[in-house]
Amino acid sequence: MMIFVDELTDLLWAADPVSGERLPVRREAVIAQLEKGGQRRAARLARKLPARDGVLVAGEIDALQIRVHCELQRLGEELQLPRRVAEWVLRFRQSRGSEPIRVVDVGCGLGYVVRWLAAYGVLGPGVELVGVDLNRALVERAGELAAAEGLRCRFVAGDALAPGVAGDDGRATVVISSGLLHHLPATALPGFFAAQRALEVAAFAHWDIDPGPWTTLGAWVFHRARMREPVSRHDGVLSARRAHVTARPERWEAYERAGRAALALYLPFGAVVLAALAGYAVLSWRRRFLATALILGPFTFARPLVAVAGVVLAARATTDLLVLGVAAAAVAAVLAVEPIQNRRWAAAATGTASRR
Ligand SMILES: C[S@@+](CC[C@H](N)C(=O)[O-])C[C@H]1O[C@@H](n2cnc3c(N)ncnc32)[C@H](O)[C@@H]1O
Repeated sequence: MMIFVDELTDLLWAADPVSGERLPVRREAVIAQLEKGGQRRAARLARKLPARDGVLVAGEIDALQIRVHCELQRLGEELQLPRRVAEWVLRFRQSRGSEPIRVVDVGCGLGYVVRWLAAYGVLGPGVELVGVDLNRALVERAGELAAAEGLRCRFVAGDALAPGVAGDDGRATVVISSGLLHHLPATALPGFFAAQRALEVAAFAHWDIDPGPWTTLGAWVFHRARMREPVSRHDGVLSARRAHVTARPERWEAYERAGRAALALYLPFGAVVLAALAGYAVLSWRRRFLATALILGPFTFARPLVAVAGVVLAARATTDLLVLGVAAAAVAAVLAVEPIQNRRWAAAATGTASRR
């Protein structure tokens, strides 16, 4: 199973859990945390973030978070998220008569869903619209956007699942979220739903990506095609991959480790052979001889040893016997090709000679 590694955006800001005051975040600490989780690409992105005296510049980080969430808002527009939410809330309302309700968007980001519902007024009168997010910068921007558009909705910074954060006036509360669930580790989900039960919410509905074997590939294609911000691309794919590890074959991690260890040897070996072959194709005949004598000859001789050495390296990376058996069988199959071919070639040559 994949270890729960952190998203880059989660590490870029921190707040005091009691006062909500922003805490300084050291860039080196972020890089160290990412490297500890084996996230080299994310660590490279973190290295480029602006810092003053080693501390990430808060304004720049806020601007980055807002850019990331603008991209998420575009995704919400494309998926017509607010319309789907509206359809569901309306069905709920029909079951409750005209009772006033509060709709709370947990992890509202820039509040696109809440602002859309307020702008179109599709839920009718008696519905209070509240967006709550842990990230103060996002909440402030959501509030500014709502004020600029003159919308009747409000945004609150804090943990949406803490009592009283969204409001405490006894209204039936409907909790919704979009794109939030897959960011939570599996171990956090029982607590997430228990917190909603503790708040006595009248109903909840969460919209998220569909789990399945194609989820990670789909997330990768989507983020490459539609997202511009490197941090969005990184975190979007990581969160999908991390949330859907169960869709991967049971021994996937062991295969990956074994494969990576063997490739550390096979790739440079193959690259040298390909370079020598390319040289052989373009050089004059005298120099071709050099390519053969210095590289192709010795490398051909070493090929079986290198193939076996790859399995030895795989065995150092994993102790899973099935995985090692598959690696050994693959190498044996590759090594068997040449003698079989030689035998067929010799048989064909002998046949031709005896017919003459
Ligand atoms: C991936 S974003 C989704 C934003 C938005 N809902 C959308 O669809 O674009 C998840 C957001 O949830 C917020 N969040 C996570 N847990 C939360 C909680 N318990 N209370 C409030 N916000 C939370 C994070 O700060 C983040 O902004």
